[in-house]
Amino acid sequence: MEGFNRTHTCGELRREHVGSEVTLTGWVQDHRNLGGALFVVLRDRYGLTQLKVDPERSELFEEASRLRAEFVIGVKGTVVDRGANENKELPTGAIEVDATEIRIFNRSSVLPFQVREELDATENLRLTYRYLDLRRPNLQRNIIMRSKLTAVVRDALQSHGFLDLETPVLTKSTPEGARDYLVPSRVHPGCFYALPQSPQLFKQLYMIAGFDRYYQIARCFRDEDLRADRQPEFTQIDIEMSFIETKHIFEVCEHMVARVFKEIRGVELQLPLRQMSYDEAMEKYGVDAPDLRYELLLNDVTALLSESGYRVFAEAAQAGLIKVLRVPAPASLSRKDLAALEEHAKTYGAKGLAWTRVAEAGLEAGIAKFIEAPLAQALIEKLGAAQGDTLLFVADKASVTNAALGNVRKRLAEMLSLVPKGPAALDAPSLVWITSFPMFEWSEEDGRWYAMHHPFTSPRAEDVEKLATDPGAVRAQAYDLVLNGVELGGGSIRIHDPQLQSQVFELLGIGAEEARAKFGFLLDALQMGAPPHGGLAFGLDRFAMLLTGAESLRDVIAYPKTNKATDLMSDAPGRVSQAQLDELYLQSKAPEEG
Ligand code: AMO
Ligand code: AMP
Repeated sequence: MEGFNRTHTCGELRREHVGSEVTLTGWVQDHRNLGGALFVVLRDRYGLTQLKVDPERSELFEEASRLRAEFVIGVKGTVVDRGANENKELPTGAIEVDATEIRIFNRSSVLPFQVREELDATENLRLTYRYLDLRRPNLQRNIIMRSKLTAVVRDALQSHGFLDLETPVLTKSTPEGARDYLVPSRVHPGCFYALPQSPQLFKQLYMIAGFDRYYQIARCFRDEDLRADRQPEFTQIDIEMSFIETKHIFEVCEHMVARVFKEIRGVELQLPLRQMSYDEAMEKYGVDAPDLRYELLLNDVTALLSESGYRVFAEAAQAGLIKVLRVPAPASLSRKDLAALEEHAKTYGAKGLAWTRVAEAGLEAGIAKFIEAPLAQALIEKLGAAQGDTLLFVADKASVTNAALGNVRKRLAEMLSLVPKGPAALDAPSLVWITSFPMFEWSEEDGRWYAMHHPFTSPRAEDVEKLATDPGAVRAQAYDLVLNGVELGGGSIRIHDPQLQSQVFELLGIGAEEARAKFGFLLDALQMGAPPHGGLAFGLDRFAMLLTGAESLRDVIAYPKTNKATDLMSDAPGRVSQAQLDELYLQSKAPEEG
């Protein structure tokens, strides 16, 4: 490096620098030998600058002609005006550097793929050579934006008096509903740490310790089935506050989210943000993370259609819900569209997606023949439907009907291009707090209640009595923030009364003994001066994904895992030696490799 300390970055030089002697460093993006002169485009994270090597400098010219893509070099030279050859697409396009000296710091072998914004390499190849992938300008933009996001978040929260506090990674299991990653203890044979699914219990203990306002950019680990918006290892913006009500948490979060939109996207949010009850969201949109940028409402037509002669509806009406989604004309759906939507509905458990169309008088096509004229008329009136509208139906138990039709609604919006894609999706974002979630969800399969958020969530004061009589009717002081139909974050007011906490554990099938073994430290702490408290956690990766318009979390995480939870670059997870296993008192039951 000596003698080649850079004076400027590759994104910095302009016409006003013409005549300056400069030193640049970076990667060779392009090299073209045009005989008359040799042109090299140098790249660093700030931009691109063109270098010119004059053939008159024969030694230098010879050396420069051996440069190849991705060599790392330093160059000294004079800034010259490109005059009529200006490249208007490049911020540095008015100038080039007439090289006088070049030093090669590192050569590059032939690359598995070229470092370019647009790439046709498979994702597996990109992940195997992630450091090359990360050199691409689009990924650099994402990762840099993510850094800016955390900076704005920290600044906003610090300005509200929050303390940035750490919590352990080797800990006991925290029940957020996913499977734990376990770490065997060498010192305690047969014992395991669990990696935290979130810092939930520790942040509550910080409140009990009196720290009042906590936040952490915290790494969380969940061994669950992966999707485009889920990673086994992800990051939360984790927040907890004492002596507050829900509205105070909303205020702090809205301020933070507004600053992020302003400073990262230049978008001014209207505060306070909209709020909607869970019940309203389910009724109108079928999902608890509705996208409100388009209408397409769901309608409950159970009462009406249970009288139809149609077998499917009659069966469902017994113990279920029939809903219809009206797609207003002029939008029209081809048979192919309808088939694709039906497939989509089936992935959410629906048996099908019945459809029909509103005609001049009554209904036509699809299931029209099963709906007698007076009923058809009543349906059209109820929906306020007009000629040319398409109607999509699902009949099933309520959870399936809602999930299927709610997700058909989201797919339809894409099909009909009702929402902008990519970064433009955030110019007029849909941000809404979903409130008053049910406290519990009943699992038919396991025959027991599960906490809809987590077991430390407080019921609404007016519902506490129903815990004993009608758990299904109890509403929680829990909330989610939803951005463009994606759950960005969620949280709750916590239980700070040990009796109530024990009662909720009991309801969840966690008996006194198990509660003591798993959460004894929390139950003890709740008996020794626990303030009222609450908080929430945002998914930082999801936030970054939505802010950049990326389609996958993998595009905003520098070193992500595949959907099989592997790191292709380092080849993790991997087998370990017998000696390591012995030291941990472990025996592997996995079949031999090979
Ligand atoms: P929750 O489990 O809802 O709440 O998680 C909070 C937010 O974290 C994000 N998230 C994920 N992001 C990427 N990959 C995953 N596998 C993943 N799982 C969750 C989501 C989600 O909204 N302790 C509570 C918060 C609280 O009550 O304060 C918790 O973890 O954006
Ligand atoms: P079938 O009578 O099963 O051949 O179905 C006739 C039409 O009704 C098809 O378009 C199916 O997709 C649809 N269908 C079947 N079951 C349901 C259901 N439970 N809800 C909505 N549509 C259904």
